[in-house]
Amino acid sequence: MLSNKDLSFHTLFTNTLVACCFFLFTFSACGGEEREDGLSEFEVEHGIGPVTERLDIGDLDLEMVNRGSDIFNRLCVACHQLDAGITGPALRNITEKRSPEFVMNYILNPREMTNRHPIGQELADQYPGVMAETGLTREQARDVLEYLRAAQQGEI
Ligand code: HEC
Repeated sequence: MLSNKDLSFHTLFTNTLVACCFFLFTFSACGGEEREDGLSEFEVEHGIGPVTERLDIGDLDLEMVNRGSDIFNRLCVACHQLDAGITGPALRNITEKRSPEFVMNYILNPREMTNRHPIGQELADQYPGVMAETGLTREQARDVLEYLRAAQQGEI
């Protein structure tokens, strides 16, 4: 036989369980809601492209900076300067404005960034030219990111 005390504990336990399930359901329903543009939260924050997880970024790596500098001066200066907007936006403070993953995705997947990402669409309205495919590998894009981090830190 259950005593009154057992019963009230039982009721309390059941109510708590129901409340927990309710909250879990509500939150998971919120998390799973689709955006109209079909982008995931990660893509909104960090861009659309091959970089789909947060990167592990440490102190400046000068070898990467040097390689990134070569690539930047070969492939990007036609449209970008560090301190002045030309065909494309000035990039000195880009790593302050955007996450590292966002910058890499822009370098690796400019067409989709311009067509599908809200920030890319805004930039495309502001800059009449279109960013070309760079043809860089992920490692090369990471080097360019390191160069842009160095520029932001005043090392260049
Ligand atoms: C043919 C011109 C052109 C070249 C070459 C080019 N870009 Fe761009 N870039 C643009 C334009 C125009 C935009 C903005 C509108 C758009 O995306 O089309 C842009 C946007 C960007 C953005 C986004 C800026 C922001 O505020 O979020 C980044 C980052 C970027 N470029 C980096 C690079 C890097 C790094 C290179 C070289 C590897 C490069 N771009 C080569 C024209 C170019």
